[in-house]
Amino acid sequence: MTYVVPFMNGKGGTGKSTLARCYAVEAAKGGASVLIADLDDEQKTAAIWAANRKRNGWKPEIRVEVASARKAYDLVGQTDVLVIDAPGWADAQTLYVAKWSTFTVVPTRANRSDDLAATVSLLHKFAAESIPAWRFGVALNGLRTATAERDNSDARTYLKSAGYEALPGFTRDLKTYEVAMLEGKAITETDRPALNEEAFKLAEAIARNVITAGRKLEQELKPQETAARTARIREDFEKQLESERERNNERGGRGR
Ligand SMILES: Nc1ncnc2c1ncn2[C@@H]1O[C@H](COP(=O)(O)OP(=O)(O)OP(=O)(O)O)[C@@H](O)[C@H]1O
Ligand SMILES: [Mg+2]
Repeated sequence: MTYVVPFMNGKGGTGKSTLARCYAVEAAKGGASVLIADLDDEQKTAAIWAANRKRNGWKPEIRVEVASARKAYDLVGQTDVLVIDAPGWADAQTLYVAKWSTFTVVPTRANRSDDLAATVSLLHKFAAESIPAWRFGVALNGLRTATAERDNSDARTYLKSAGYEALPGFTRDLKTYEVAMLEGKAITETDRPALNEEAFKLAEAIARNVITAGRKLEQELKPQETAARTARIREDFEKQLESERERNNERGGRGR
């Protein structure tokens, strides 16, 4: 079974790509075969990062495919872990990815109420799609150093009051992380061990939740049901795309 792990948030710049790469590297170091599907076909940032990683000789190498949400689904089965780096908007298709994923990570900055509000709004959409709470988690990323502890606890209180929990750990907004990523490294691979450790706590929490959710899904579904589920998801996905196409055609028709 491929563990499908999307990183998404309707808000841009929250750390989706940062944490997706970090988790991908740590999962690969743990021995899994890992593939990142970069859904942002305009910026292709994950592909550029992986190319820098390869050029600088950092191991393990991480494979990246630029793909649409629909195409990403075809990669299921080709790898142990499929990390999906979603773009800075959560449209119907990316929400759909969350629906068929193993565990969805929602990175958010904690010090700006608009980021947290956007995060809660996405989590409400997950709940509306009947995605259970054990299949997604909020990751607090890029907290301001001066107020990190307070921002961390305020963000957790805010999320709790909306009915959600953040994953253990958080990362601060640090130049060292930014520089490491420009070189093709993960934020657990900087030249500062204490900072690597901070980021690793979050990556570890993500990994633990992915494994738990994966096991739970496997236990809940017998093998024949897994195949049926896959077929149903594919069918649903096609319907969803078809209705989007129809809506687009209607809009185009009115415009003429
Ligand atoms: N913890 C951090 N410390 C320092 N810089 C960070 C941190 N997290 C993210 N950044 C920087 O902030 C910018 C946005 O981060 P990132 O690309 O991970 O966000 P994103 O959610 O993928 O954005 P987009 O919505 O554009 O896809 C990047 O330049 C990244 O290097
Ligand atoms: Mg990104």
